[in-house]
Amino acid sequence: MACQPDSSGPKSFGPVAPYYDELMKAVPYRMWSSYYLLLLAHQDVHPKSLLDVCCGTGSMSELLLREGFEVAGFDLSEGMIREAKRKAKSRKMPIDYWVADATNFELGRRFDAAFSFFDSLNNILEPELLQNAFHSVARHLPAGASWIFDLNTAYAFREQMFDQESSRANSKLRYKWVGEWNESTKKIVVRMKFWFRDQEFMEIHEQRAYDHDDVVAMLEKAGFGSIRAFHSYTLNPPRHKSDRIHYTAIRL
Ligand SMILES: C[S@@+](CC[C@H](N)C(=O)[O-])C[C@H]1O[C@@H](n2cnc3c(N)ncnc32)[C@H](O)[C@@H]1O
Repeated sequence: MACQPDSSGPKSFGPVAPYYDELMKAVPYRMWSSYYLLLLAHQDVHPKSLLDVCCGTGSMSELLLREGFEVAGFDLSEGMIREAKRKAKSRKMPIDYWVADATNFELGRRFDAAFSFFDSLNNILEPELLQNAFHSVARHLPAGASWIFDLNTAYAFREQMFDQESSRANSKLRYKWVGEWNESTKKIVVRMKFWFRDQEFMEIHEQRAYDHDDVVAMLEKAGFGSIRAFHSYTLNPPRHKSDRIHYTAIRL
């Protein structure tokens, strides 16, 4: 999914926040958290405390807390953080959540590792801002710490992965999404219409695709090394038709 912040707050992940978990109920978060553990093992790092960057409603944070990590997370959307806090409170999960912008944040503490899943960083629309996000993450990590994140690729956007529809009459939440990809700006604008019972609402999301070499250069500039990229959910290198890539890096 995508997000377009503006001066009045995020235009996206606002109205949809209370329904986000319902919308994502088919997302294999358990497999994703296992894959995260595999990537940590592959890096040969053993963190105790984790920072979930762009944590949304905290689904990954909760699973990783259950694995025995200390977890904290932040997100730009107040609505998503409200949901994350509500869930953590009702499940008695000690997770700190904050509203913050990944492109410039200061949480006042450091973590053994940071991660960002589900193409959250594609929502950062300008390379300078993604660079700032990598600098901000780096400031929160000591030398030797792990930074793992995923990014959708231009291939995914070109192949219209955002054109999706769920119109089953018996489902609580129905939606129709249409994406418009611009090959020259490398941005996609996705118009999302949702129906929940008798309510209808819309969100407009925007994402940007980043070239692999640019991502690596930005990571290096922010002070990361041992940079590896994988065809998502495998340990294989990305291929021409990878729709998502996971990056692993170590803070130098
Ligand atoms: C598709 S959701 C993924 C949420 C979560 N990582 C998950 O796996 O469910 C993308 C999230 O990125 C957040 N986001 C987008 N831009 C952000 C920014 N600049 N800083 C912090 N969060 C941001 C959105 O508010 C949204 O919650």
